[in-house]
Amino acid sequence: MSELDRSGGADQPPRKRPRRPRYGGTHPKSYAQKYKEHNLAAYPQIEAHLRAKGNTPAGTHVPVLVEEVMACLRPKTGDIVVDCTVGYGGHALEFIRRIGPDGRLIALDADGAELERARLRLGQANVPVSFHRSNFAGIAKVLNQEKLDGFDILFADLGVSSMQIDNPERGMSYKHEGPLDMRMDARLKRTGADLLNRLSEEELAKAFWELADEPDHREIARLIVSRRAVEPITQTSQLVQAVFDAKGLTLKNWRQQRRDSKSDSLHPAARTFQALRILVNDELGSLRELLRVAPYCLRPGGRIGIISFHSGEDRLVKQSFRDSVRNGTYESAAEDVITPGVQEIRSNPRSASAKFRWAAAKSLQS
Ligand SMILES: C[S@@+](CC[C@H](N)C(=O)[O-])C[C@H]1O[C@@H](n2cnc3c(N)ncnc32)[C@H](O)[C@@H]1O
Repeated sequence: MSELDRSGGADQPPRKRPRRPRYGGTHPKSYAQKYKEHNLAAYPQIEAHLRAKGNTPAGTHVPVLVEEVMACLRPKTGDIVVDCTVGYGGHALEFIRRIGPDGRLIALDADGAELERARLRLGQANVPVSFHRSNFAGIAKVLNQEKLDGFDILFADLGVSSMQIDNPERGMSYKHEGPLDMRMDARLKRTGADLLNRLSEEELAKAFWELADEPDHREIARLIVSRRAVEPITQTSQLVQAVFDAKGLTLKNWRQQRRDSKSDSLHPAARTFQALRILVNDELGSLRELLRVAPYCLRPGGRIGIISFHSGEDRLVKQSFRDSVRNGTYESAAEDVITPGVQEIRSNPRSASAKFRWAAAKSLQS
């Protein structure tokens, strides 16, 4: 940038270049310090560098199974598509490219911050896009608001985005110190900390088991209840410590166990965090409602596709599609689950647990 560029004009004092955030060491470590990753337009080389190492730049999200989703849902010129979980807009951009200016995209997200990012990213498209801050359980209401008779394609990519997981303020990850908030939608009343400090031991144990198959669910629930009697559990690090203690682990011996087994085994607190997040956001309740109303929101011949990341979600999708084909609501559904290939998992390890299924509504001729 030249001196002239930096001046505020002939009569104004020169503008100072904003200082980069200060951090110790040679590289920024925390999410907030990664100023280059938060501004990829100004530092385009950073994205390619991180992606080549299988990392996701802070403040972004790498969409999963994009080619597979497009091949199965077959968006075409003029289609009306609803992306129920627009997030960073990776899938949405691909839909936009294929439906063209005669098509229409309706973008939903329960998270207001995510929706604003998507609005910035997709707002320039030459395709009409409308945005709704809404839980996808309210999809029928969105259809009415848009004055549509149905969607040609209904798509949902469940769970949380990398932006939500990586932001310590959201408290969704065991990797970062932060408040145990975990809400996707800040309008929800109860945070992760609220539930952790209020639910009974039995309710906690049931959630850890049913929502994340945590084998030590009883021990973890018991320890949480005894710790919270002394001091409320409000921070991610307190929950991580409780899980380690309940499992009789220390960070050091877990790292050693991992090295010995030579496998990239799951972090001991991963399942507990997942279960609490699913509970806070009633993720299974929203999915059940979406699956219930989706057939009535599709046009004849319309397609529905859902990516899930957890066996509980995938079971619901599989069962619903199978029952709907059996009772004639859908004409066909994916025979087998579609998962990422080795190449995709290598370039984006976060895609590893993705499972995609689709179904198609009856066409007018059938
Ligand atoms: C995995 S990300 C989607 C990423 C997106 N496909 C992309 O390519 O960037 C999931 C998004 O869905 C949103 N979400 C999760 N559950 C939701 C629900 N029940 N209703 C609406 N949005 C939801 C989350 O806030 C998050 O932004």
